[in-house]
Amino acid sequence: MPNDSPHILITAGPTHEPIDAVRYLANRSSGRLGTALADRSAERGWRTTLLLGPTDRVPEHSQVNLVRFQTTADLERALGEHFEGCDVLVMAAAVADYRPKSDQNQDPSKTKLRREPGEMVLRLESTPDLLTGCAARRQSNQLLVGFALEPIERLESSARSKLERKGLDLIVANALETMDAPDVDARLYGVIEDATGGKVAKEGFADWLLDRIERAREARA
Ligand code: CTP
Repeated sequence: MPNDSPHILITAGPTHEPIDAVRYLANRSSGRLGTALADRSAERGWRTTLLLGPTDRVPEHSQVNLVRFQTTADLERALGEHFEGCDVLVMAAAVADYRPKSDQNQDPSKTKLRREPGEMVLRLESTPDLLTGCAARRQSNQLLVGFALEPIERLESSARSKLERKGLDLIVANALETMDAPDVDARLYGVIEDATGGKVAKEGFADWLLDRIERAREARA
């Protein structure tokens, strides 16, 4: 492995936030793109750590250091452990924005809600923004890449505002239907601006993005 190859930390997949011992809140992320990024970066000889949520898809390359998570809190802890030592963070995980509000007297994973007649109200609390947390403690030589999934009509404006608000170097903007799909039609904003200019398979897109990450690192050096 070349000495100057970066250490890349990739997050991917959904989060599962327990409602009780048998139910959870989740999203449709498959982890396909993040897993492809991990395989392709390991193929390049980059030191690769993949923090992967609950999905059946796993990386194929034997050199990917795979760490699993279930909840946003698990992912927060894993980032606490792995972020400091990385050169590049690619935050492709679809992190929950809300989770069932924690009750200090009861661990939700140890109980089961019973069916009652009438309505039931699920109280949610917002999750911390993990990417913003990483940006707040970053070293200047670390490159931070985020994702934005947006309705097509406000793809650029929302992505640019997230780039600023979250303190990122690059943001990949995709239309909503990208989640769970085999391909992407992506735009990249930030220190490098570019677009795939049509649909490409997520595996091909992984190489496309890694090339631009490499360029952004060279421009900074
Ligand atoms: N993200 C994060 N922590 C969260 C939510 C999102 O780190 N609690 C990261 C995602 O991994 C992604 C980026 O922030 O790289 C943008 O995620 P997105 O869901 O599009 O944005 P939100 O900040 O959740 O904003 P909104 O829900 O208003 O679109």
